[in-house]
Amino acid sequence: MAASLWMCRLRPRALTGPLKSIDNLCFKSQSKHNTSSVAVKSEIAQRKDQTDTIAERKPFYVLQEERLEQAERSVLINCPPKTNEKKFLKHLSSHGEINTCFFYESFGTYALVEFSKKESIASLQDGTIIPSIQHEATVPFKSRLVSLKLNNPGDLSSVPSSIQCLRQSAIPINELVQRLSGADTIDQQLYTLTETYQLTEDNVRLRFLVCSLLKDIAAAYFPECTVKLFGSSVNGFGKLGCDLDMFLDLDGISGRKSKKTTGPFTLEYQMKRVSSERAATQKILSVIGECIDQFGPGCVGVQKILNARCPLVRFAHQPSGFQCDLTANNRIAIKSSELLYLYGSLDARVRALVFTVRCWARAHAITSSIPGAWITNFSLTMMVIFFLQKRDPPIIPTLDQLKGLAGPTDKQLIEGHDCTFVSNINRINTTENTETLEQLLKEFFEFYGNFSFSKMSINIRKGKEQCKPDVSPLHIQNPFEQSLNVSKNVNQTQLERFVSLARDSAWILQQDRMSHPLGAGAQPWGLAALLLPSASQTGGKGKKRRKREPASERIKSLLESLKSNKPNSTNGNGKRNFSTQSY
Ligand code: GTP
Ligand code: MG
Repeated sequence: MAASLWMCRLRPRALTGPLKSIDNLCFKSQSKHNTSSVAVKSEIAQRKDQTDTIAERKPFYVLQEERLEQAERSVLINCPPKTNEKKFLKHLSSHGEINTCFFYESFGTYALVEFSKKESIASLQDGTIIPSIQHEATVPFKSRLVSLKLNNPGDLSSVPSSIQCLRQSAIPINELVQRLSGADTIDQQLYTLTETYQLTEDNVRLRFLVCSLLKDIAAAYFPECTVKLFGSSVNGFGKLGCDLDMFLDLDGISGRKSKKTTGPFTLEYQMKRVSSERAATQKILSVIGECIDQFGPGCVGVQKILNARCPLVRFAHQPSGFQCDLTANNRIAIKSSELLYLYGSLDARVRALVFTVRCWARAHAITSSIPGAWITNFSLTMMVIFFLQKRDPPIIPTLDQLKGLAGPTDKQLIEGHDCTFVSNINRINTTENTETLEQLLKEFFEFYGNFSFSKMSINIRKGKEQCKPDVSPLHIQNPFEQSLNVSKNVNQTQLERFVSLARDSAWILQQDRMSHPLGAGAQPWGLAALLLPSASQTGGKGKKRRKREPASERIKSLLESLKSNKPNSTNGNGKRNFSTQSY
């Protein structure tokens, strides 16, 4: 399809489904409050309501800047368990107007407090004391992570805590399965899964605050640095509890943005020289890793993994509960995040399908939080995007089509790689495709259950499979560094597990018993049954599946019967007909 078909008359975009993502919200309309706990509580309710408010999607980099600025006006406060919220807010408001405050648990109770003005942070820090410790010493580093101490603990001992803590982790899979079982359609199940798992407004604020706290540490060495977020924290596909991928950006002092000088002389900074960019990155991360380890309040388990393809410092940030990866010189990864954000913003079905496939893969141990030969979440996301590009009509455009829509300011060459694509979502036309999520989920499993992985490579730039350039079992071309395979780590066994599970899941979804079991209460059905760990062995209901012909034959005949029976398989509303037939 020509790029022009994706071009639209610049107009505000609304999401096409019922699902809204957190960063689609208009934060400026948020009400401010000072000291009342009622006001804070009603804000929690308001925040929930705001997820129903659609504002025009902002370009990725604008959103990032806004979020980072918001984080600079915020502090993280460890509170005693019986803190009186009203008195707490009254005390803090002596430093200035408070925009937002919420509480959560992570190795203690914490409050994230966002002031209206940055000056309030200086005022708060001015009034904060250095702890006096008897048998130990402290590393003198004044951060925006502070503790609230009660001057007269007896005052509050009889007062019940008024704090309401907001959850920052995903609900367990069995609870999710129960929740999904109560939905009316498979489409509703996919949207419910996404709404349940996606990052909340509070969690996003916390992520940017941790990023901003890290910047304060790195700025001790590099005052002009910024620390940016990438990966699933910002690409729209983050699940509560996902790791925090950060990037130390030294562009302001690296020479990449050097100015042209005029006149007879030029002054140049004297700088130490190292053999390569990689060596410079390793040295910088080594030093910053040491600072995080030695001075970073709340940062524990610091590991410097400097010999990896992409050198990084890994640590746990206890006050937020996030597992953090800090990299440097990683601007292409930010462009990948922006691209995924763009795709996720184009049509609500994209995020719903990505969340569902990721959750399905995790439930069946296709993916893992431990690095290894498994398929990664990033690779799975690319597979979903490719699949959606291949629908007829396509649901999302190819990367080359997005490049065709780019404006002059979108042009970007990073380390010799063309990373140009349109940033303004409103320039991209909405799709004519009206397939339901139920159809798409089935077709996804069938597509990859029958994909020619041995010969073909997945290419989201072209939206077409291409001949594999090497022998890796799974080849997904890196959209920007085109000679790289993002799934190089995947071995044949893991690929075969994925294919076999995809085939089984396609088969399971065809069964009449997977339709909504009317009157059966909260029995797992549809997507809920597919997420049960035993689904691929039992058909989703705990009974042994009868002996079957080989999976490929089974799928072929199923597909044939599907094609011939299509009109009868649903009731016209995308809902499957009720049937008592078992298999
Ligand atoms: P989760 O953390 O699993 O929720 O997803 P994620 O997308 O954040 O993945 P991960 O933390 O593993 O990686 C962070 C980001 O690094 C990804 O979003 C990509 O932008 C990038 N990335 C990850 N793996 C690869 C890879 O193999 N090749 C390239 N080029 N980039 C990768
Ligand atoms: Mg990540």
